[in-house]
Amino acid sequence: MKLLEERILKDGNVLSGDILKVDTFLNHQVDPQLMNSIGKEFKKLFDNENITRILTVESSGIAPAVLTGLQMNVPVVFARKHKSVTMNDNAYTSDVYSYTKKVNNHISIDKRFINADDNVLIIDDFLANGQAVNGLVDIIHQANANVSGVGIVIEKSFQDGRKKLDNEGLHVESLARISSLDNNKVTFVD
Ligand code: G4P
Ligand code: NA
Ligand code: NA
Repeated sequence: MKLLEERILKDGNVLSGDILKVDTFLNHQVDPQLMNSIGKEFKKLFDNENITRILTVESSGIAPAVLTGLQMNVPVVFARKHKSVTMNDNAYTSDVYSYTKKVNNHISIDKRFINADDNVLIIDDFLANGQAVNGLVDIIHQANANVSGVGIVIEKSFQDGRKKLDNEGLHVESLARISSLDNNKVTFVD
């Protein structure tokens, strides 16, 4: 997606440890117009999948997921990382280990918000090692629902998440694919 790549080149900052900082439009401040363009792009890419629900993980997946849900006219559910006071115990849960942050997150989704007849589209802001997506796939399988696709805003193609998801036979679409962050420079996959 040209608009997104241009914005990454303009605003992105490469931090040590192969981390791309994009807090001006995605991870802290959010650009609603760009998110809307992202939603339209995901609708185009997954238009044949008969999506009935979108799943993401709080917090940074929510903005692109909601704008995609608006375009597809389907509900959006975000997995919680922390137990909410209002949430009952009737939830699907999965453990997600973050290699980036070296922490284990226990994600959960109330059973009322995913059904066996759902065709689910997973949306997330970053794909690195694929752990967050795997946790959501685990929850979708627990609900006996169907994983119809995975939409990623920024994929770090030099890490192994994409390869793992492809090997699982999932339909993955990433709007920006980064082949390298070497020498503090963003390079995209051709
Ligand atoms: P994985 O799910 O693909 O295995 O990714 P990993 O555990 O390595 O990532 C942990 C967190 O770091 C995730 O956010 C992920 O979106 C984020 N992340 C990974 N690589 C980058 C990067 O290069 N730049 C930025 N900005 N974020 C990256 P999270 O812990 O779920 O936090 P939140 O922002 O969604 O609240
Ligand atoms: Na995320
Ligand atoms: Na994030």
